[in-house]
Amino acid sequence: MTIRPELIEQLRSRRAKLTQNVSDEKLAALHVKGLLSARERLDALFDAGTFQELGLHASHSATLFGMAGRELPADGVIAGSGYLGNLQVAAFSQDINVLAGSLGKMQARKINRIMRHALKIGVPVVAFKDSGGARIQEGVDALSGYGDVFYSNVLLSGVVPQIAVICGPCAGGAAYSPALMDFVIMTRQHAHMFLTGPEVIKAVTGRATTMAEVGGAEMHATVSGNAHFIAEDDRHAIALVKQLLSYLPPNNTEDPPHHLAEPIDETADAEINDCVPDDAFEPLDMYSVIHRVVDGGELFEVHAGFARNIIVGFARICGVVVGIVANQPMVMAGALDLNAADKAARFVRTCNIFNVPVVTLVDVPGFLPGVEQERGGIIRHGAKMLSAYGSCTAPKITVILRKAYGGSYLAMCSQEMGADMVFAWPTAEIAVMGAEAAVRILYRKELDQAEDRQARAVELAQEYRDEFASPYVSASNFYITDVIEPGDTRWMLALALRKLLDKRELRPAKKHGNIPM
Ligand code: HXC
Repeated sequence: MTIRPELIEQLRSRRAKLTQNVSDEKLAALHVKGLLSARERLDALFDAGTFQELGLHASHSATLFGMAGRELPADGVIAGSGYLGNLQVAAFSQDINVLAGSLGKMQARKINRIMRHALKIGVPVVAFKDSGGARIQEGVDALSGYGDVFYSNVLLSGVVPQIAVICGPCAGGAAYSPALMDFVIMTRQHAHMFLTGPEVIKAVTGRATTMAEVGGAEMHATVSGNAHFIAEDDRHAIALVKQLLSYLPPNNTEDPPHHLAEPIDETADAEINDCVPDDAFEPLDMYSVIHRVVDGGELFEVHAGFARNIIVGFARICGVVVGIVANQPMVMAGALDLNAADKAARFVRTCNIFNVPVVTLVDVPGFLPGVEQERGGIIRHGAKMLSAYGSCTAPKITVILRKAYGGSYLAMCSQEMGADMVFAWPTAEIAVMGAEAAVRILYRKELDQAEDRQARAVELAQEYRDEFASPYVSASNFYITDVIEPGDTRWMLALALRKLLDKRELRPAKKHGNIPM
C-alpha cells in the first residue's frame, strides 16, 4: 500500500497556488519601497522552519456576492505560530493582495483561532495589519467578524502581550483592534490608520485633508498617541517587535526575561553628578541620568515622540527588566499635562500586567497650570496616574532627583501610592509647591515692606529649599527610605530590585477598579 502520487502532487500544487499568489515582479516592486509581502513578514519574524500555518485552505470566496470562481488565497490572512528562540509567538498577517486584505467572516475566524491559541498556551500575539477594512461583499458578516476580533483582543488583554504592526492601510473600525492591543508600531511611509479618511472628512465637514494629517505614522506617534513606535520600513518594524518581546514575559503569570546572572557592581558612579546643573533653575536632561543608571545605557523608549515631557521605556538594571517612568525637565520643565499623564498611566499599567518592576525618576515642578489643561480634564487625566500607580502591584521604586512638588509628588509614585522604596538625592526638594511660589504666598506682607523685595524673596526661597523642602525633612518623617549619593543610584536600585522580585501583594477581590478614563 502506498499513497497515490497524484494526491501528493495535487496537494503540492494547491499549496503552491495559495502561497505563491504574489508574482516575482510585484515582490521586487514591494522590496524597492521597503515593503515585504504578508508571508515574507512572517518569514522575517520567525526562526527558519518554525512557522506552522492554520487554515491555508480556508476561503469564503465562492459564496460571496460577485465573487463566483474567484480565488481568495488563505482568505487574505496568513495565520499561525512560530518560534523566536525558545519563545513561541502567535501571529497573523493580512495580505493586501487579496481583496486589499479586507476582513470577512472567514478571515475573522482565522484571526480568532490564532488569538485563542495564544490565550490557551499563554504566548504573545503579533498582528501585521494591511487591510482595506470590512469586506464590502460580506456585509454584516464582516461587521460580526470585526466584533469577534475585538472581543478576542479584550479577552487577551492583560493575559498575553499583543503587538500590532501597521504596514499599510488600517481603515475604519479596523483601527480599533490595534487600539485594543498593548503596543502599536507604524511604518513611516506606508502605514495609515484612521476611522474616517480624507474623502469622508471632506464630504462631511468640507475640510480638505491628507492621509498623513489624519492617519500617518508621524501624526499618531507625536499628536494622537495611537502609535508607540515608528519603524522606517517593514524589516525595522519586525526588529522592533523582537526588541519589545525581549523585555516581556510570554504571559501575565510569568516573569519578564531578567538576566539574573548579572552581578551587582557596587562601585559608585561619580560621573552621574555631572548630569545635575549647578544652577537649580537650569533643567536637568533626564536622558543623561537614565543612560548612566541602566545597563549599557540602553533605554528602549516607548512613545518617544509623544508627550516628551515624560519619558517611558524598558531597560535592564544589573539584568533586571524594568519599566522606567521619568520626568523630562528639558521639555515644558517636566510639568505633567494631559498627554503626559495618559502616557505614564498607560505604561505603568502595561508594566503591571507583565510583572515588570517600575522605576520612577522624579524631577517635576507640578501639573501644568492653564485654562486648556483644566478644561481638557487634567483632574481626570492626572488621576489616571494615581490610579495606575495605586493599582500596580509589581515592584515600584522611586528616586527623587530634584523637584517633587504638590500633587505631582504623589502622581510620580510616592510612598503613599505604594512605592516599595523611595530614594532621594541630596538635591531633592519635596514640598507642597515650589520655593518661589510658596514664599510669595507665605511672606506677602513682609515682601511688600522689604527694602529690596527681589533680594529678600531670593533669600527666603533659599531658606525654604534648604530647610523646609530638604529631603532630610521627608526622611526624618520616614516618607522616604533613604537619602543617597547620586553615584550610588544604580547599584542601590539593582539591590532593591533583586529584593523585590518575589513581591506578592494581594488586593480585595473585585471585577476591576474604575479607571478615571
Ligand atoms: C472588498 C475591497 C475593499 C473592501 C478594496 N477592495 N477594499 N474589496 N472590501 N473593503 C478590493 C478592490 O475592489 C480591488 O478589487 C482590490 O481590493 C484592490 O483594491 P484597490 O483599490 O485597487 O487597491 P489600492 O489602490 O492598493 O488601494 C487599497 C486601499 C483601497 C487603500 C485599501 O482599496 C481602499 O481605500 N479601500 C477601501 C477602504 C475603506 O473605505 N475601508 C473601510 C471599509 S468600512 P479588484 O477586484 O480590483 O482586485 C469598515 C468598517 C468596519 O472597515 C467597521 C468594523 C467595526
